[in-house]
Amino acid sequence: MSPSDPCPIAWPTIREQFLLDEQQIYLNAGTLSAMPRTVLDAVVRHLRHEEANPTRHVSLRWQGDAWQALHVALADYLGATAEGLILHVNATEALNQALFGFPWQAGDELLVGHMEYGAIVNAGREAVRRAGGSLRTLTLPEHGVDDAAMVQAVLDGLSPQTRAVLLSHVTTRTGHVLPVAAIARALAEKGVALIVDGAHGPGLLPLQLADSAIAFYGGNLHKWFMGPKATAFLFVHEDWRSRLQPSIVGWGNVPVDGARHVPGAEISPGTFFDVFQLQGIRSRAYFFALQEVLAFRRQLGERQIHERVADLRQLVRQRLTGELGLVCLSPPGSLSAGLISFTLPAGINPTGLQETLFHRHRITVAAWEEKPGQAHLRISPHIWNLESDIDHLVVALRVELG
Ligand SMILES: Cc1ncc(COP(=O)(O)O)c(C=O)c1O
Repeated sequence: MSPSDPCPIAWPTIREQFLLDEQQIYLNAGTLSAMPRTVLDAVVRHLRHEEANPTRHVSLRWQGDAWQALHVALADYLGATAEGLILHVNATEALNQALFGFPWQAGDELLVGHMEYGAIVNAGREAVRRAGGSLRTLTLPEHGVDDAAMVQAVLDGLSPQTRAVLLSHVTTRTGHVLPVAAIARALAEKGVALIVDGAHGPGLLPLQLADSAIAFYGGNLHKWFMGPKATAFLFVHEDWRSRLQPSIVGWGNVPVDGARHVPGAEISPGTFFDVFQLQGIRSRAYFFALQEVLAFRRQLGERQIHERVADLRQLVRQRLTGELGLVCLSPPGSLSAGLISFTLPAGINPTGLQETLFHRHRITVAAWEEKPGQAHLRISPHIWNLESDIDHLVVALRVELG
């Protein structure tokens, strides 16, 4: 260890900082993460504050500075700028804003990768259909190719009608990491926008959104980042801010019949912030608690968090392939992250296995039928997990898979 290396972290003590049931093993951060106790305390603190004076403690008229400070802090973490950041309650909502607010024209095409999350594909199909366009699916290399080959595969899939491409940063089924920054650069040169489903990006991979050519990045903060449930964001590239149509119109300044609707004197008209943030009253307690997540992550060190998740994931890979003989579906090395998936032996009912693992062994994982006769198991460990959790998983799977 060199003097500049951070102190090693005692991971068992980190586990104690979460409220997870001690009698259970939670290996499903890819669906939803747990949040540290300090974050829950902050949510409660902010809710109490709001209740102390709902008018002054909720309205942006009085909370505007704190709201702005939160955007600056989050933007700093995401390598973004506060100006282009819109907070949402989940990635579905954030990406709906991008997809339905996109300036589609009749005949336009939205190209989506074949590994995309169904709900977001639904949103994309519906958004482009309403504008008189269509969606097309592109099959991409699945088992690990270098960035240049992946960029080329996307470029090869374009048609003259393609206006936008929708791709995940990290795919939901296998944790495949797509080189979204390089793809966005190549697409921008052709005048095509990249819309990134970043549900699994924040907290798992370092992000530099402001410097990238990604047109829209919708990310979750309640997965790998460890924020309260119902926290997410959309980051909009500078070039796209004036073209995005708000899906909710409130006090924010939007064009009305060619004129500008100017709201109350206390609100400065015309900014992206006005249009996308002045969309009615809501509690901001969950969002304000994100400051506490940033503090928690800073204290542990971002690099240590990423490395710990990668180490646990590698251990899952080694043990499930080496000791149980399962076939791993996730590409090797840094070509995948966070989530790690395996093919289950023929004849295994994935829902039954998921329920048995929970009820008999108190282990939470994800399992599903990929296609008839082919079932997948997905493990997503996070920093609250210990090596002993993976020992238990291996024992349980050995019993249940026979
Ligand atoms: C790739 C991907 N996109 C989008 C979502 C939707 O996230 P949310 O339900 O938080 O909107 C998920 C959820 O698992 C996902 O895996």
